[in-house]
Amino acid sequence: MINYKRLAALAVEAKDRAYAPYSGFHVGAALLCENGKIYIGCNVESAAYPATVCAERTALLKAVSEGERKFKAISVAGSRPGGESDYCYPCGVCRQMLHEFAGDDFEVIIVKSESDYRVHKWSEILPYGFGPNDLGV
Ligand code: THU
Repeated sequence: MINYKRLAALAVEAKDRAYAPYSGFHVGAALLCENGKIYIGCNVESAAYPATVCAERTALLKAVSEGERKFKAISVAGSRPGGESDYCYPCGVCRQMLHEFAGDDFEVIIVKSESDYRVHKWSEILPYGFGPNDLGV
């Protein structure tokens, strides 16, 4: 199994960049490409609440807009408004967007700390998803 300690640590670091004045919930993500590059992201909230972008999508959009298409894993770290870290699973919108690019081996690392994280297969995070295959792409 891949050692995800570094990817976990980068998600924890990215969390410090969160712009979350409304929820106070800080999230960081680190997306590992098949070529070894890593793109980080944080949540960026908006006074028009639904316009908020989650950490996972920030990382994904940064990567895709730089030309990346193949990914190995994403790590996600979240802290409650008080600052306490807890396991934070991707929201439904992020699961759907990641599904666009998630291959069979894609893994999701849910990080409480650099040394305390859970590794999930993509199929556990989004079973029976609707994706490019369904549209013949
Ligand atoms: N959030 C993320 O960035 N990722 C998740 O996986 C769950 C939720 C953000 C969105 C919003 O800024 C805050 O956490 C509270 O929902």
